[in-house]
Amino acid sequence: MNISHIEHLGIAVKSIEEQLPYYEGILGVKCYNIEVVEDQKVKTAFFKIGQTKIELLEPTSEDSTIAKFIEKRGEGIHHMAFCIEDGVANALKEVEAKGVKLIDHAPRRGAEGLDIAFLHPKSTGGVLTELCETPKK
Ligand code: CO
Repeated sequence: MNISHIEHLGIAVKSIEEQLPYYEGILGVKCYNIEVVEDQKVKTAFFKIGQTKIELLEPTSEDSTIAKFIEKRGEGIHHMAFCIEDGVANALKEVEAKGVKLIDHAPRRGAEGLDIAFLHPKSTGGVLTELCETPKK
């Protein structure tokens, strides 16, 4: 698999609204997109720093995995996402063959129209890892 860069860091927050003054006012990075991803039960807010984005994740429901994460571990870094140049589907096959435990066995559509898949933190040193790519049209 060919990783070009860290596409984004996902950060679990209770409230995007409450975090905007830190990101926009203190760090001086502008939120350029807020989007609800229904099937993941999250509201996302995006900031761009160089090639890498920060994705704030706010649960939209109590049974959201983000709500459960915050309950257990508090707010903070939730996952790291790599941009895969040669395709997420290929990368999944490759790492599964090397014994990595997968959460998603096939790419699915995530925020910002990316194709994404998660690797299990048991196989990645405790870091929930997302592989993603911009779908080729
Ligand atoms: Co993500």
